[in-house]
Amino acid sequence: MSGTIVAVDRLTALMARGADFLGCETAILCGAMSWVSERHLVAAVSNAGGFGLIACGAMTPALLDAEIIGTKALTDKPFGVNLITMHPDIMELIDICLRHEIGHVVLAGGLPPKGSIEAIKAGGAKVICFAPALALAKKLHRSGVDALVIEGMEAGGHIGPVATSVLAQEILPEMASELPIFVAGGIGHGEAITAYLEMGAAGVQLGTRFACAVESIAHPNFKKAFFRASAREAVTSVQVDARLPVIPVRALRNAGTEAFTAKQREVAQLLDEGKVDMGEAQLQIERYWAGALRRAVIDGDVENGSLMAGQSVGMVKREEPVAEIIETLMAQARTALSRRAD
Ligand SMILES: Cc1cc2nc3c(=O)[nH]c(=O)nc-3n(C[C@H](O)[C@H](O)[C@H](O)COP(=O)(O)O)c2cc1C
Repeated sequence: MSGTIVAVDRLTALMARGADFLGCETAILCGAMSWVSERHLVAAVSNAGGFGLIACGAMTPALLDAEIIGTKALTDKPFGVNLITMHPDIMELIDICLRHEIGHVVLAGGLPPKGSIEAIKAGGAKVICFAPALALAKKLHRSGVDALVIEGMEAGGHIGPVATSVLAQEILPEMASELPIFVAGGIGHGEAITAYLEMGAAGVQLGTRFACAVESIAHPNFKKAFFRASAREAVTSVQVDARLPVIPVRALRNAGTEAFTAKQREVAQLLDEGKVDMGEAQLQIERYWAGALRRAVIDGDVENGSLMAGQSVGMVKREEPVAEIIETLMAQARTALSRRAD
């Protein structure tokens, strides 16, 4: 048998667990990206054999309802919904997902609120959570989550402090036999997909690589900024006030990066004056990011908006259809495997 045929079978075998879990052909998730991951991109990913996720972000329950209906009109393949745990209407959003028989709900942005995992499972859907450390991965597993995403600091958007490669080494050897684990952060080439699958991952999640697909509604200016950027330009935001812990965000450097510093000072002052409590202060910061990202993605203001992007942005060179992106990644993964088989 030739190396290539062996590699095709081996890649299918390595992805089988993740693909079975998701109910799709290819264990590649397109990570939810606020404003970007709406019906068109989500349906395109699922139609191409991957797994699309609607980014609920700050959507109201009525908007999420409409987005799910809109996505179902574009695909009959399975897709999931990503909910932010600090959303004030989280339980109502979960209800909407269940009413539409969404099979997979991702809880992002912090520990799942009390009762949320139970509610999703009772409604017949699978729960996927982010595990930023081994101890939390174990805790989430004990709480009944069905799968985990481990996302390193190379990723675009809100990030944790640890690199993907380190999380993978700490968590996969211990936990991969317990439940499916998807690796995210910094993946832009099939070579890395092969490596994480061989380490025990059930699949991978990519965001940056899909953000500029033909089917992505991101503004042409947003896409152009990605095509021009190199890895080193995707930098993390800086916390300016020790009293106000903010989750770092990785984005392309621009004037908006400075504006975030001013925003933190403004919110810290409101905290000092007792005008807001810590929860409200953090919510204000998150609303700021949602607004800044919208400015860049939808309005095309790439100077003042937020160009959230991961370090893999250097591997995003041009606008390509989602199906082509997935095919390229799979071909690269097969090439990597066939080299090992030779
Ligand atoms: C523009 C952008 C917006 C994002 N928004 C969200 C979000 O709303 N919720 C979430 O869980 N992750 C969000 N992410 C993270 C992605 O879902 C994904 O996990 C990440 O992009 C993977 O790393 P990569 O960018 O290196 O591929 C965002 C990423 C980007 C680039």
